[in-house]
Amino acid sequence: MQVLRDALKQAQEHGIAIGHFNIADLVLLKAVFASAQELSVPLIVGVSEGEREFMGVQEVAALVRTLRDEFDYPIFLNADHTHSLAKALDASRAGFDAIVFDASALPFEQNVQQTNKAVEAIKAINPWILVEGEIGDIGTGSQIHEAAPELVKGLTSPEEAKQFVETTQVDILAPAVGNMHGMLKSMVAGQTSKHLDIERIAQIKSATRVPLTLHGGSGTADEDLQNAIAAGINIVHINTELRVAWRHSLEEALAREPDEVVPYKILAFPLEAVKQIARSRLRLFNSPGNSSSQGVRRFR
Ligand code: G3H
Ligand code: ZN
Repeated sequence: MQVLRDALKQAQEHGIAIGHFNIADLVLLKAVFASAQELSVPLIVGVSEGEREFMGVQEVAALVRTLRDEFDYPIFLNADHTHSLAKALDASRAGFDAIVFDASALPFEQNVQQTNKAVEAIKAINPWILVEGEIGDIGTGSQIHEAAPELVKGLTSPEEAKQFVETTQVDILAPAVGNMHGMLKSMVAGQTSKHLDIERIAQIKSATRVPLTLHGGSGTADEDLQNAIAAGINIVHINTELRVAWRHSLEEALAREPDEVVPYKILAFPLEAVKQIARSRLRLFNSPGNSSSQGVRRFR
């Protein structure tokens, strides 16, 4: 069975990105897995501290492991935005494939120091776990925001990215390159979208040479995502778009079938709605060459 390090290496070689989708329940997990299976592309499932609290650290690890074994499938589990070493170690012991150790709210030097400590402690439990570090400010909350947050730390420079990667020894870097967590109302309505600093991504890539993750992928223009992947992004995180689809389709199902009480009949609606979003994002992320005309790169 392939490990995440190999899947990422292939993504780097082929100029594509692995889709990372956050889940908070079985509907979301089933939907993103079914979409990946349809396209035969690898998948990373992410759970933040809140999502882990809700699903259970051991429980979500068991669910993902079961899918991987039953279907012989490259599905990986990431402990997203982990702010404490204790929680990072819990996830490491539960068998997660990757940990995003997020000390980005701290001043740069403290972020470096804490991330380095986390890398050492996580690798001591299992050297195969990939550790991602984060620098810069991309806001918080995969939610619908009234207004754009004030991102006081500014965008990541190639110099600090290089220093961060070399000093902390992280496997993966999440930079601030115009991305932001969550969506503005205008983005949900399809009137505006996020735009990325593609030149900066290319400079950070050539300065660090490590896999790069784009957080806050929801609401980003397709063209920007394609260019960002061509410039060196290898993982794209999507959460809010799935949450919006989940909620809207659930409301629609309940309104359409006011007497229905069978959970799996009602939940078939969010399952389908989330699948549609995940499918279209995965198609975009896994099409090499800065265009989807060449088609999706399948792993088998
Ligand atoms: O870690 C999670 C993501 O970065 C998701 O961001 O909610 O803007 O898609 P998003
Ligand atoms: Zn994120």
